[in-house]
Amino acid sequence: MKKILITGGAGFIGSHVVRLFVNKYPDYQIYNLDKLTYAGNLENLSDVDKMPNYHFVKGDIVDAAFINQLFEKERFDGVIHLAAESHVDRSITNPMEFIFTNVVGTVNLLNAAKAIWKDNYEGKRFYHISTDEVYGALGDTGSFKETTPYSPHSPYSAAKASSDHFVRAYHDTYGLPTVISNCSNNYGPNQFPEKLIPLFINNIKHNKSLPVYGKGINVRDWLYVVDHARAIDLIFHKGKTGETYNIGGNNEWRNIDLIKKLIEIMDRKLGRPEGTSLELITYVTDRAGHDLRYAIDASKLRAELGWEPTIRFDEGFEKTVEWYLANEAWLNNVTSGSYQDYYRKMYGE
Ligand code: NAD
Ligand code: DAU
Repeated sequence: MKKILITGGAGFIGSHVVRLFVNKYPDYQIYNLDKLTYAGNLENLSDVDKMPNYHFVKGDIVDAAFINQLFEKERFDGVIHLAAESHVDRSITNPMEFIFTNVVGTVNLLNAAKAIWKDNYEGKRFYHISTDEVYGALGDTGSFKETTPYSPHSPYSAAKASSDHFVRAYHDTYGLPTVISNCSNNYGPNQFPEKLIPLFINNIKHNKSLPVYGKGINVRDWLYVVDHARAIDLIFHKGKTGETYNIGGNNEWRNIDLIKKLIEIMDRKLGRPEGTSLELITYVTDRAGHDLRYAIDASKLRAELGWEPTIRFDEGFEKTVEWYLANEAWLNNVTSGSYQDYYRKMYGE
């Protein structure tokens, strides 16, 4: 019987990880710790929240006393840490929140794990879920390897880079059994519509303009979220202690090409004549510090643990659009209230 703490399990990627673990490991007790910020939504877990091996704890990883008490009480065997402030644009307007949650919150969890495991690390693991953005930006060629030097450009990626450094420092200094993975852009169901794909799906649906930053030539490497969750499962169980693994989709798209592909699918699904929504494309001022290109070399993960993405992009993209169209209530719920203020401040309409 293992007790696993998953932080940020009510968010986008976290909810897919919780679902996978609760279903796949009935002999594990899965604890989902989440503050339920604007990005956390327990509706994301409505299909698993009655399972006997699932437990929800509402709490803030920045609150060290609370975290210490929780670890003392539950004595987790493993931690899969996803809780974070995750949106680059929000980090530009409010960096402190990112330093508190992403840096201080991560160090609080490291301290609490270290305190309960007390040098007896047999069967224990602290797994930090991180991002490819820590490596900075690529030019037209090349890809990020695990050995690529860190060069973050946004407050978000600087905070994630800092938390990665603390995780490695706790491994090197105290011998804490850590592992880190750095993944490229995820897409799929349950992503908060501040991120490119769900934001644009929602806007196309409501005939609202599509704010393309700069010239739309930035490149991202897209991975279906369920494939990320599968990689997390594999690395948590079989990754080598102290190591870092890159995870990516081997699937690079220029933003503008991805947006045109999305418009093609959406117009078809909404029964609009082909190309109707192209007129919604609006070029706006570029994101400050906007990284030109990300691309992941995931060959280490493939060679050592045999992981490959299983969902082809065509299939995953179509399924994603279908999910948002079928889950109108979810979309309406998360875009009501404070989302409207965010949207007005961010996009001025
Ligand atoms: P998300 O914003 O959808 O979810 C974050 C979750 O963390 C939410 O449920 C939120 O309530 C919770 N949370 C935030 N602050 C908290 C706090 N102080 N205490 C407890 N819970 C808190 O994020 P996501 O896109 O699912 O990303 C999850 C993780 O994966 C993050 O660490 C992110 O850096 C990393 N990541 C994301 C992507 C991506 O494309 N989305 C890619 C690579 C890595
Ligand atoms: O690479 C992994 C990262 O991917 C994760 O660590 C982050 O948590 C996640 O948010 C994501 O970061 P990006 O900044 O790449 O994702 P976002 O969806 O915000 O933007 C994708 C691209 O689209 C980026 O080049 C900016 C552009 N964009 C985004 C928005 C929201 C626009 O052109 N217009 C927009 O309105």
